[in-house]
Amino acid sequence: MNLLQLDTPCLILDKKKTKENISNLHSHLRDLEVNLRPHGKTAKNIDIINMVLAGQPGGIAVSTLKEAEYYFSHGIVDIVYAVGIAPVKLDRIVSLIIKGAAVTIILDSIEQVNFVAAKARQHGLIIPVLIELDCDGHRSGVTLGDSLLLDIGYLLNSESGVTLAGVLTHAGESYQCKSVEDIRVLAAVERDTAVKSAEKLRQNGLPCPIVSVGSTPTATFAEDLAGITEIRAGVFMFYDLVMSGLGVCKTEDIAVSVLTSIIGHQKRKGWVITDAGWMALSRDRGTAAQKVDQGYGLVCNIDGEPLNDLIVSSTNQEHGIISSRGGKGLDCEQFEVGSLVCILPNHACATTAMHDRYYVTDGSTEIIDVWHRISGW
Ligand SMILES: Cc1ncc(COP(=O)(O)O)c(C=O)c1O
Repeated sequence: MNLLQLDTPCLILDKKKTKENISNLHSHLRDLEVNLRPHGKTAKNIDIINMVLAGQPGGIAVSTLKEAEYYFSHGIVDIVYAVGIAPVKLDRIVSLIIKGAAVTIILDSIEQVNFVAAKARQHGLIIPVLIELDCDGHRSGVTLGDSLLLDIGYLLNSESGVTLAGVLTHAGESYQCKSVEDIRVLAAVERDTAVKSAEKLRQNGLPCPIVSVGSTPTATFAEDLAGITEIRAGVFMFYDLVMSGLGVCKTEDIAVSVLTSIIGHQKRKGWVITDAGWMALSRDRGTAAQKVDQGYGLVCNIDGEPLNDLIVSSTNQEHGIISSRGGKGLDCEQFEVGSLVCILPNHACATTAMHDRYYVTDGSTEIIDVWHRISGW
């Protein structure tokens, strides 16, 4: 099958670019002597995670229990559920552990320790726990210097049903950085927060075998990861316009795009109308605050070459409007009604989440495979 035969809108994955992106992060982390724990939330597909895990120790992170159950059913055992734990999640975690999964959870409060330990004891299990740290004010976690770190550590170490497995932090603010130098500085802050917290636990007689950090920007620009046992990253597999705006990748490295049909022209306004609205692209506007605002996505021809300064400037549910960046008139005649273009996404995780499959290419317009994605929680 060829791209030209596909029903639009649909999601295209360039396998060659994905492989190169994976191999680049692997070689950077090999130089820094730290393991990669890929985040399964970006791909939500086992074929892609297997590409990342080849030759690696084998653990992943997930953001939903649906991902945990799916990846476990495909043979991945070592799973960190990297979202703060809630009581309603525990039955499914217990069920995964009973079936043989090595699931580690994260938390940042005494209440969470108490309900996790109680549930684990009911089932005669021991659930490994990472204490979530806040390295950059992004969202949750215990800050360095907060006595809560030791309170949680002591409780995890003394309660039956739970065990202290280590610490975890995610520098989510790296997405707001204004320069590569800012990302380098944040990568060092992320590392220091995790390493100093681990030292504090150890100095107080508590174990801290896992010291886990990561986001795609900080993983890419980290220069020294001494004391870190693993890096988590997800977006690096595909990259996106937010990452290219940050300087983490080049636009030509972006491995996913949405194929869309031209369905009309508004010549007076200089608009071209497509069938990829926010249901196909997502409403993510992650580049809005960056130097170059990419609207809802950057327009490329079907060979994946960006068409200078053409962006999806507006979306409805099933319509996209292509116009020139900055509102200059667009010559509609260059886009025949019924022809196809590809849209590069602002945020790969958000855009791919709108689709149930990848049409896989090897860089040409031939479809070499169809890979399914899971969704939901
Ligand atoms: C806890 C956690 N770890 C790791 C990641 C991976 O970061 P990225 O998506 O930048 O690769 C995320 C992403 O949201 C996350 O929430």
